[in-house]
Amino acid sequence: MSARNTSLLTRSINAIWHPCTQMKQHETLPLVPIARAEGVWLYDFDGRRYLDAISSWWVNLFGHANPRINAALNAQLEILEHVILAGFTHAPVIELSEQLSALTGNRLGHCFYASDGASAVEIALKMSFHFWRNSGRPGKTGFISLAHGYHGETLGALAITDVALFRDAYAPLLMHSTQVVSPDWRGAEPGESPRAYAERCATALESHLEQHHAKTAAIIIEPLVQGAAGMAMYDAEYLRRARALCDQYQVHLIADEIMTGFGRTGTFFAYEQGDITPDFLCLSKGITGGYLPLSVVLTTDAVYAAFYDDNIARGFLHSHSYTGNALACRAALATLDIFSQDRVIESNRNKAVLINRLLAPLAQHSRVKHLRNIGMIWAFDVETADAGFARKFYMAALANELLLRPIEATVYWMPPYVITDEEIELLATRILMTLEQSLTLISCT
Ligand SMILES: Cc1ncc(COP(=O)(O)O)c(C=O)c1O
Repeated sequence: MSARNTSLLTRSINAIWHPCTQMKQHETLPLVPIARAEGVWLYDFDGRRYLDAISSWWVNLFGHANPRINAALNAQLEILEHVILAGFTHAPVIELSEQLSALTGNRLGHCFYASDGASAVEIALKMSFHFWRNSGRPGKTGFISLAHGYHGETLGALAITDVALFRDAYAPLLMHSTQVVSPDWRGAEPGESPRAYAERCATALESHLEQHHAKTAAIIIEPLVQGAAGMAMYDAEYLRRARALCDQYQVHLIADEIMTGFGRTGTFFAYEQGDITPDFLCLSKGITGGYLPLSVVLTTDAVYAAFYDDNIARGFLHSHSYTGNALACRAALATLDIFSQDRVIESNRNKAVLINRLLAPLAQHSRVKHLRNIGMIWAFDVETADAGFARKFYMAALANELLLRPIEATVYWMPPYVITDEEIELLATRILMTLEQSLTLISCT
């Protein structure tokens, strides 16, 4: 390893508390310093490269150093980098809000901005509760989420997140919430279709709402794919049923599309596949093509109207300093331009066909279960008793020039949409190779 690589590793370990990491693990698991990136590739200082098969935590859509997003940002830098959004406004945030609203068929016409996914979730929760309070129903304070759902790490978002490893240490600090059974089709009985299972799970939601609707403000779901649960996928029937139940029982439906939005599941928003519209839509991650932190909550005229009043306290008095940052909004606009100019969703379909064909052998592998795909997300579960599987796979993948971070025994990939056919072939061959190597490593240890 070069002196430059080594010195950055040491300085990083000394100065940075890295996210979602037990720092002691870095005694044996080296950090990877990245010098530059282009397209799907990340390069270190020694000229080694890694195919970013997880789109840098699910954010990147059109590759690193995308010339079109770079140009848009450079132009924006010359005009306006940032301005307070309370009392002021600017063109990028207006254009972005109009375009996002149009993408919802103008059903969600009001955009409230923040910086990260978790802060969007906080906003949706607060807005839902406050809507009911402003509507004379202050008793609607409860939130429902799906078992194994993930919505972020801030206290409100963590309270509706159901991942024990992230949640348990902070349990005494968290508000109460209810988890209903997830429609993840891996939970279906033998012979039960994903759709029938989704219907059964919706019936469980119905039983809960029947009893508790008067005290429930909202249910929050990750439409079609629960990412941090290990890319758990479910049938769109659940969305239809959940929407109908929310209407029946006067409970908001919050769609957390922080991971699934922007074409990841094969439609621009995943909720479209259920032919529904949520009351709140949380977006982040891919919104800026993976360039800058930006999140937004879109909501309906009805919600907006409930806050519109002479009384200041009935307003939504929530803020973040960088709300509606002009550079981030410009990156988002450049991202939306690429969607409309390049017919991205259609071209992703062809890429998915190729990835499915090349990785079909996985389905026959004796240790692979539940090979699954939706849009530009793939996953499979590995039958292993080794608690160190994820780490071994991650290391073996790096040695094969791939960035892949299994979630426990689930291997998944969701590459940037600009991945070429040649890169897809490399990705497929190396995934198969990495699986064999990590299983051999396991049997040797
Ligand atoms: C569905 C979902 N919601 C919320 C979040 C939190 O977003 P952030 O990490 O930007 O706070 C994530 C992050 O992975 C997510 O996948």
